[in-house]
Amino acid sequence: YMVDKGNHRHFMEKEIYEQPEVISHALSHYINFIDHRALTVSDGIDFAKVPSLAISACGTAYLAGLIGKYWFERYARLPVEIDVASEFRYREIPLSPQSAALFISQSGETADTLASLRYCKDHGLKIGAVVNTRESTIARESDAVFPILAGPEIGVASTKAFTCQLAVLAALAVSAGRARGTVSEQEEAALVKSLAEMPRLMGQVLNSIQPKIEFLSRELSKCRDVLYLGRGTSFPLAMEGALKLKEISYIHAEGYAAGELKHGPIALIDENMPVIVIAPHDRFFDKTVSNMQEVAARGGRIILITDERGAAASKLDTMHTIVLPNVDEIIAPMIFALPVQLLAYHTAVFMGTDVDQPRNLAKSVTVE
Ligand code: G6P
Repeated sequence: YMVDKGNHRHFMEKEIYEQPEVISHALSHYINFIDHRALTVSDGIDFAKVPSLAISACGTAYLAGLIGKYWFERYARLPVEIDVASEFRYREIPLSPQSAALFISQSGETADTLASLRYCKDHGLKIGAVVNTRESTIARESDAVFPILAGPEIGVASTKAFTCQLAVLAALAVSAGRARGTVSEQEEAALVKSLAEMPRLMGQVLNSIQPKIEFLSRELSKCRDVLYLGRGTSFPLAMEGALKLKEISYIHAEGYAAGELKHGPIALIDENMPVIVIAPHDRFFDKTVSNMQEVAARGGRIILITDERGAAASKLDTMHTIVLPNVDEIIAPMIFALPVQLLAYHTAVFMGTDVDQPRNLAKSVTVE
């Protein structure tokens, strides 16, 4: 195939802006937009019968899996064991042969992820692959393939594959919840309706936040260290924000659970280290705001990424705020991923790095 950058400076930018379109395509495979039902997409895994789930992946795909864990546990009441594949494959995890395992991989060729898959297969688990490349080794060796339909991703730093992985995992968790009787028909309709609204909301965000992001990215490009904080599904997203920033701008960044702030990273806070707080106005909002106050009290500079309700509810004046539209909880990780990706992208552009091919990194790691 031939892929070009269109009007964009980099593939990464193009892939960020493509997200409303590819997410819509991915979702159409997993949900019915008209009657708001989650589709049963594969008979390779019977989610109604499995006692638990194992998930493994590397890099950004692993962070998508971590968010997926929150969804499978909450909506399908399925306990999830998850680890990065390089640990998962050697941990000698006791696994029940009645369980299923999901492997998330854009390329479908990552060596450690494939080894974890084979470990689970040897233990008799049913194997599901959440992949972008349907002809890949990971897809071939699986009982069920859940394609993310993101189209070719050229930028080494994953963006649209991440949000498509999330969209697929969210739809699967809702579908599993229906099959297990832990999500009612009404709840299913509400959750699927939220998912269906995602492409439009993503478009709205992408069309409006660029000036603010560029302004903040110029500030970030002068920093040596950046801390990202979040709670609930915003915690893996905080880690994804830090990963993206370090990968392409080479600025040191860490993602932390907001509640862990006082157990270490608070010692680093001063006016030189910006703290990016990812906080949709969800059931954790007040707790995250109180962590934010601890940062502000120590002279830390805060960049708050929140929604309209959150912006109205938090009254700190020492900070910059990126305000997104109000969104339902299940789609918040995908919507909030957009400013997180764009901050990393524009910071890297200001730094003048090779955004699409950052030093020392490979698109797909096929050796251990
Ligand atoms: C590399 C890439 C990342 C990717 C990870 C897993 O580190 O640079 O963008 O998330 O591998 O790759 P996979 O193809 O298995 O998703």
